[in-house]
Amino acid sequence: MQFLRVEDVLGGKHDGERVAVRGWVYRKRESKQTIFLLVRDSTGVVQCTVKADSRGWVEAERITIESSLSLEGLAKQDKRAPGGYEIAVDGLSIIGLADVFPISKDKSEEFLRDMRHLWLRSRRMSLVMRVRGEVLEATREFFKSQSFVEVSPPMFISAAVEGGSTLFGLKYFDQDLYLTQSSQLYLEVLIFSLESVYCIAPSFRAEKSRTIRHLTEYWHIEAEWPFADMNDLMRFEEGLLAFVCQRTVERCGKEFAELGADIAKVESVRAPFPRITYGEAVDRLKAKGSTVKWGDDFGYDDEKTLAEEFGRPFFVYDYPTAIKAFYCKTYRDHPELAMSTDMLVPRIGEISTGGAREDDKEVLVRRIRETGLKEQDYDWYLDLRRYGTVPHVGFGMGLERLLTWMLDLENIIDSIPFPRTLRRFYP
Ligand code: 4AD
Ligand code: MG
Repeated sequence: MQFLRVEDVLGGKHDGERVAVRGWVYRKRESKQTIFLLVRDSTGVVQCTVKADSRGWVEAERITIESSLSLEGLAKQDKRAPGGYEIAVDGLSIIGLADVFPISKDKSEEFLRDMRHLWLRSRRMSLVMRVRGEVLEATREFFKSQSFVEVSPPMFISAAVEGGSTLFGLKYFDQDLYLTQSSQLYLEVLIFSLESVYCIAPSFRAEKSRTIRHLTEYWHIEAEWPFADMNDLMRFEEGLLAFVCQRTVERCGKEFAELGADIAKVESVRAPFPRITYGEAVDRLKAKGSTVKWGDDFGYDDEKTLAEEFGRPFFVYDYPTAIKAFYCKTYRDHPELAMSTDMLVPRIGEISTGGAREDDKEVLVRRIRETGLKEQDYDWYLDLRRYGTVPHVGFGMGLERLLTWMLDLENIIDSIPFPRTLRRFYP
């Protein structure tokens, strides 16, 4: 007999037919005459009833929560059953009998994190992971529609991209290397042949802060392309976010509803986004009583305050050069200002940083020295300015921050299957 997916049984197309499904026992309730099994597969949960006088009773009595099984029986409409259909079982085989499952309702968050490998089976986690998959797919679709080529940069690197304070060092045979903080510099290499490129790859940050928006390993959506300016960059980024939001809402309505996430917020994301300069942002913050001064980097609280005002994604651009990375292009008539832009969203704050890259070799060398880096570590990067330099832009968006915002997750760690943080690297 062919196995159906649970969602097909619940869809009602097989009402009154004999069906077979396979999956895992989600819940079990028994009375003298009937055992109710809620059986889940990747598509849903269906109620299966086993009567004392039907085939499968002995197995149903033995079976435990999270055992894997296959069963067959008659699919029929039943208003009382979750999903509106149930299977009256007349055959059941246990595939893998589970030990007593350690996860139950009363367990602490900490315990569930230690049991991540099992907790990922929960309804909640599987809904989040499904949305994550769709967000990735929509992202790739958008890049493809804009003729970007997906490329694969290295994770072992020999020089910092962002500041040294969040760099993870490691022994690479007898050399000292690092784990990448951003693939940007490598994407910059590839624009000289492929022009518009992107990658979706891990980035690593030795992040000591325990916040709802920091991981030590996260997935970074990064892109880079030539012959473009700040306006092109912000238009592209808002286009990407609007597209990803629309697509995800179209495909994941059920998941949003079941997770209790605010779908209207995501659905209403449309380009263009509001844009304010860093200077305006400082003024707005001061007006709200913040002690921030021109030249300061915004803290999480500042970002949240700004974002509350907008209540939707927006950009802050033209930051002080002094708080930006060495590769940021500066205004020729205002070298104290860098062509850099952050996208912010309510509650989370920054979800992306992008900007124009310094394309003049002399200025770049000066910036490398000013920021305390070693010129020789960036020799290959400087070659890009020696051989056919070109104005170009790019950005990096944190996938998990995006998901945390989209799905109203309390903490970023629930947006990734196996979160890595200061204290957490198991399982
Ligand atoms: O702002 P960041 O450090 O910018 C860069 O790395 C640039 N080189 C990107 C580029 O232009 N290609 O990081 C970019 C984004 C942040 O806006 C944030 O969304 C995410 O990466 N991010 C983190 N996400 C989770 N945990 C962390 N510790 C993160 N650090 C950065
Ligand atoms: Mg940033």
